[in-house]
Amino acid sequence: MSISLTPLPEVGGNASVAFEPVFSAPPSGSTNSNSRASDRTEFAIHWPGQEHLHQPSLADSDRPPSVLLVAAQEAERRMLGSLLRREGCIIMDSRSAVMALDLLGKCRPDLVIIDRDLGDMGALECCRQIKAMRRADFVPVLIVAARNSAEDEVAGIEAGADEYLIKPLHPQVFRARISALIRHKTAVDRLEEAESILFALALSVEKRDHAAAGHCQRLALYSVAFGMRLGLSEAQLLSLHRGGYLHDIGKIVVPDAILYKPGKLTAEEWVVMKTHSVRGEEICRPMHSLAAVLPIIRNHHERWDGSGYPDGLQGEQIPLLARVLQLADAFDALCSVRPYKDAFPRELTIQTLLAEGEMGWRDRELTRLFTELPFDELKLAEEQILFSEKRNDFDSSIRNLQEHLAMAS
Ligand SMILES: [Fe+2]
Ligand SMILES: [Fe+2]
Repeated sequence: MSISLTPLPEVGGNASVAFEPVFSAPPSGSTNSNSRASDRTEFAIHWPGQEHLHQPSLADSDRPPSVLLVAAQEAERRMLGSLLRREGCIIMDSRSAVMALDLLGKCRPDLVIIDRDLGDMGALECCRQIKAMRRADFVPVLIVAARNSAEDEVAGIEAGADEYLIKPLHPQVFRARISALIRHKTAVDRLEEAESILFALALSVEKRDHAAAGHCQRLALYSVAFGMRLGLSEAQLLSLHRGGYLHDIGKIVVPDAILYKPGKLTAEEWVVMKTHSVRGEEICRPMHSLAAVLPIIRNHHERWDGSGYPDGLQGEQIPLLARVLQLADAFDALCSVRPYKDAFPRELTIQTLLAEGEMGWRDRELTRLFTELPFDELKLAEEQILFSEKRNDFDSSIRNLQEHLAMAS
């Protein structure tokens, strides 16, 4: 089975980089037989048996899938573009890896297809860099190659490609593969949407209490800054960042009369209040992507001496990330107004944290290290960092933090 292609003269250089015009919309009704016929005429592509292919669109009901096509040769872009248009995809094309990476900084397609014979940095390096981009790391990458060599295929997969196909492309195989890749991406997108809903829910809990405004963002900021000082991995920093927002999501089930009571809680009210850590874990547990955040949510009120809740864990039984986040949580609670107290000045906040460490509530060594954070620098950086947080841009948030911590040391 092969695809024979009769290249047509260049049509006005279609490898544009401007975002809006870059996507070339599929011909209207691209999945009907008329448009396929016109494609065949225009690009002179002939597949044996193509008339019998089952051709429902890959597009879901909301929008057609978008594909970034990266190929140095105009003929390759046309050939792959024609195949994709038949599937109802909208196409953004790029003739170089540099151009493709630039585009991926501005938009997030459902699939990237890279021709192996790419100029500049090459297809493998392009694939590696795409997978290293947080914005694009869940975007599936398909490499298409002219040479059929096991070494090349292994190198492609090792570079992070999700699929590796050898030309000439079999249309049914091509369709099945891109369909599977796009399905996977759609599932990831849905998970992200569900995650966004949880984050919005967590922020709505905070918004119920005007005194706690900005608590989640500050917690994300301070615990990530502390995590950096401790040399934690980027995955751990990301969990702390998420934990900052989600740690108290379980308070959604705590009645306002208890949550915002201006005075001491009764023993019965405490029982209800303490359920928030377990309820928070239950709310987030169905999200597999939040698995590493669950111990933070569940155990952020444990105490080093075992007197905390919900599990009464002691010492290093308490997950490290929960110990890190609880310090940031206590710090922010102490230096903020609460229904039951005024805001403590910084000096008193630090003294109280150290005293609580001595009383056995928290990891003493971690407490000491936390109190050495450059809080003035973080305060200065807060606006800039919180702006990145609002855009949900973890990478620039981390970069800003790194710069400010580097300045402070
Ligand atoms: Fe809490
Ligand atoms: Fe909190």
